[in-house]
Amino acid sequence: MKDLVVVSNRVSIPETGRSQAGGLAMALNSALARHGGMWFGWNGEICHDTSPQPTQTRRNGITYATLPLNAEQHSDYYLGFSNEVLWPIFHFNLGAMKFQRRHAQVYYATNQHFAEKLSPLLTGDELIWVHDYHLIPLGEALRRQGNHAPMGFFLHIPFPSAELLRCIPGHRDLLASFFAYDLLGFQTPQDLETFCHAAIRILGAKRSDNVLRYGDQRLKLGIYPVSIDVDTLQREAQHSETKQAVRQLRASLGGCALIAGADRLDYSKGLGERMLAFEHLLDDYPHYRRHVLYTQVASPSRSAITEYDDLRQQLESQAGHINGLHSDLDWVPVHYINKTYPRTALMGLFRAAQVGLVTPLRDGMNLVCKEFVAAQDSRDPGALVLSELAGAAHELEGALLVNPYDPHAIAEALDQALQMPHEERCRRHASMLASVCCNDLTRWWQRFLDDLGYAVSG
Ligand code: G6P
Repeated sequence: MKDLVVVSNRVSIPETGRSQAGGLAMALNSALARHGGMWFGWNGEICHDTSPQPTQTRRNGITYATLPLNAEQHSDYYLGFSNEVLWPIFHFNLGAMKFQRRHAQVYYATNQHFAEKLSPLLTGDELIWVHDYHLIPLGEALRRQGNHAPMGFFLHIPFPSAELLRCIPGHRDLLASFFAYDLLGFQTPQDLETFCHAAIRILGAKRSDNVLRYGDQRLKLGIYPVSIDVDTLQREAQHSETKQAVRQLRASLGGCALIAGADRLDYSKGLGERMLAFEHLLDDYPHYRRHVLYTQVASPSRSAITEYDDLRQQLESQAGHINGLHSDLDWVPVHYINKTYPRTALMGLFRAAQVGLVTPLRDGMNLVCKEFVAAQDSRDPGALVLSELAGAAHELEGALLVNPYDPHAIAEALDQALQMPHEERCRRHASMLASVCCNDLTRWWQRFLDDLGYAVSG
């Protein structure tokens, strides 16, 4: 078995204060824990060096090779091009795009810098697996340095339509740079199809089944829905029942039904629409007043970007408005928490909840809804209200699917979830759990790595 080298912008080292919320971090740590190998990327720090160097740490059989970003890389590569151009466009939010040519230049230069720092750590006999939108041109930069190892790229977020992609100045070069990889993985069939359509239309690439040819480059495509480590999460959720904090949480509900959500504080997550939906629930179904609570954890994220800070203020105001209007001396309907919790605490929250509320406006996959399913006690499971625009909607047929832009429809689904009979909850939960179990995290990375080996030899 070849050694595995995983590269992503952010590296999440467990138990160090550098562990991260978010699906990518959890998926990569679990995959590396089973396979072994090295994880290369940003350590989350900003330094004054112009050319920061990597340092290596070993933990649980994984080598973490991490480097800081300098101030320019942080502002132009990470915040600027990655998160003010690629993230909004790939999430279909043209209004949030802020393009600056300088940011695009630093994006390419930082990819080159990552390639230069990674190359000396390679033996040439590895499988290289690059993740997410920050590092699209990394493969090309590594190839320029003479690296011929099998190289795959997995896109954790959705792929936009050709029309939206064309709004990014320099989109042709960006699209062409995917062709340095041997294998390109997507979350859903739609993402694969929109990529093919864009590559054919914009670059004139030729398609034969799931292989694209562009000039003399050949790129194999595949669909690999990312998932969770079901066994570990089920154990954590069961174990949470014994924890003091979870006991206190249950006691504090005072018999109220709990609706729970936990997301990064990001405009793609539909948090404002969700808050509005809960307000509609209390307005349109007044019998729920004093009988239901909504806890929303929104972990701080990318707060240096105006849109994220504006959203934080908007959510504070919405939560304050609902509580001011509806609370009683002994009942506060919205618990809005702007903090990051360890996953074990979130599993306890999900297990205590009657309804999981996961309504992103657009999401590559969304692992929170899969975690919610794994956290449930299958003898008396909660119901899931899920956005039909999350990649996970393709797999979780037992969820109540909603359009996340329609707060009234979300309120109706909440009502349906809150009064769902026990037999129907069990049936829906069993179908979702079966789907998550048969397509779990191990299958995700094993299929990708098998196909990467095959893409190179086949
Ligand atoms: C999403 C992205 C990841 C990213 C994570 C956290 O899940 O797909 O690539 O690491 O968000 O965002 P951050 O900007 O804090 O790394």
